[in-house]
Amino acid sequence: MANHSRVIGTGGYLPETIRSNDELSQTVDTSDSWIFERTGIKSRRIAGEHEGAASMAEIAARQAIAMAGIEPEDIDAIILATGTPDRVYPSTACLLQFRLGIKQCVAFDVQAACSGSIFALSIADQYIKTGVYRTVLVIGSEVCSRVVDWTDRGTCILFGDGAGAVLLGVSDTPGILSTHIHSDGQYEDLLYLPNPQCALPANVDEPGFINMRGNEVFKVAVNTLGRIVDETLEANNMQKSDIDWLVPHQANIRIIEATAKKLKMSMQQGVVTLQDQGNTSSASVLLALNEAVRDGRIQRGQVVLLEAFGAGFTWGSALIKY
Ligand code: COA
Repeated sequence: MANHSRVIGTGGYLPETIRSNDELSQTVDTSDSWIFERTGIKSRRIAGEHEGAASMAEIAARQAIAMAGIEPEDIDAIILATGTPDRVYPSTACLLQFRLGIKQCVAFDVQAACSGSIFALSIADQYIKTGVYRTVLVIGSEVCSRVVDWTDRGTCILFGDGAGAVLLGVSDTPGILSTHIHSDGQYEDLLYLPNPQCALPANVDEPGFINMRGNEVFKVAVNTLGRIVDETLEANNMQKSDIDWLVPHQANIRIIEATAKKLKMSMQQGVVTLQDQGNTSSASVLLALNEAVRDGRIQRGQVVLLEAFGAGFTWGSALIKY
């Protein structure tokens, strides 16, 4: 009998502190109405001084473990997506493994910017399908607030902090129907986060803040996500009407609306969290999935399309029978 991956638990964590558009408009030349109309965002969460990618991941992970009704020791692998790790090494996944008290599992990070959790899901799915692992914890955890230039109105309005988790277990029936991941490195200049300590001498003066040409990113994102919808449906021999829920990366409401339109879907079938979370990068899709599972919107047996787009550019999707 074939192995499939199935979602057995989800979790999410958002830091307590809320930073509203109105607060931002006191420090940069912007307004609540401009931000809301162009992005759909009203506020975002900001990690406290005691918090980081690993500590937030732990809270999300424990929720997913509790929902699945397993013990941390049952986990065979932790695959954690982050662009804002506590340390370059050890990986945040290793820090999380220690926090969860797991001695025997493999743990490693994946870096694919905002697409990271879709990439991590795809890797986890391969391991489960091939029978290597039975239970894999996938996490996206980000403290974007620490890599945002709070004087740059083009980027500081967009990002927020948080962590999302999904636990995959092995099953005789799907589960994850397919995953699709892609990269195209030619767009480095449109969206990047410098790493000053390791930068080439020519770039050493670039501060470690997100650098983005938003309007150009927007256009590529809309086109690319349209293509991944087609690719995913085609691979599964499905029609647009077969999809019950769209769980998109939460970058901009207008990007989400474009993808929903491509799917001929009403926005009621799209899970939107960005109004009070902003873009939490690799955490956003898993946070949205967790929210819609926990509030009962997503029901067992329904077909859910997860998708994301991020720096690289990277992009991907996962089609799941929940
Ligand atoms: N408040 C007020 N005005 C702002 C502003 C802000 N926060 N940010 C930019 N502007 C101004 C610009 O300076 C520009 O002014 P000008 O016409 O006088 O030159 C004008 O608004 C339009 O700027 P533009 O960049 O074309 O706006 P936009 O409609 O593309 O919206 C983003 C900007 C960033 C909201 C939008 O491009 C976006 O969301 N892009 C995608 C980003 C993304 O998703 N990144 C992550 C990918 S994972």
